[in-house]
Amino acid sequence: MTVPASVLLVCLGNICRSPTAHAVMQSGLDERGWHHIDVDSAGTGDWHIGHAPDPRTQAAAAERGYDLSVLRARQIETEDFYRFDLILAMDEQNLVDMQVLQPAGSPAELALFLAPVSGFGSAVPDPYYGGEDGFQRVLNCVEAGVAGWLNRWEKGG
Ligand code: 4NP
Repeated sequence: MTVPASVLLVCLGNICRSPTAHAVMQSGLDERGWHHIDVDSAGTGDWHIGHAPDPRTQAAAAERGYDLSVLRARQIETEDFYRFDLILAMDEQNLVDMQVLQPAGSPAELALFLAPVSGFGSAVPDPYYGGEDGFQRVLNCVEAGVAGWLNRWEKGG
């Protein structure tokens, strides 16, 4: 793929990992002045539709300078597979769930968010039922993943 015009970041609940990735990617795009790339996030599940990001996620992200407070969870919908050039899954289950949902012939490319990065495994671990260290791990993975994609796009895709 060349540089995408639009990227959707997807996890299970859209209150921990994907909103973190959303804010970190938006921050990286803003720093570079790349206003031609649209970013959004969504969850495969419906439990948290309309909710702000988890307070633990917001607190951990705020410590690193990312404001997640304006984000609200939504569930991925069929239209997203036509609207977004690239849809990135936080873990393998998110990817499989989206492969099932993706309409045949829809143009979105699906990939794992950590695909361009080595040293972090393939999944951003779900922090929801764990301790504080899980939220730091999410941020470490997300910052590495975003840097990986931005580097790739800097080179033209
Ligand atoms: P996320 O974390 O997928 O990173 O937003 C989760 C949030 C909520 C739940 C699971 C994971 N939940 O089961 O409600």
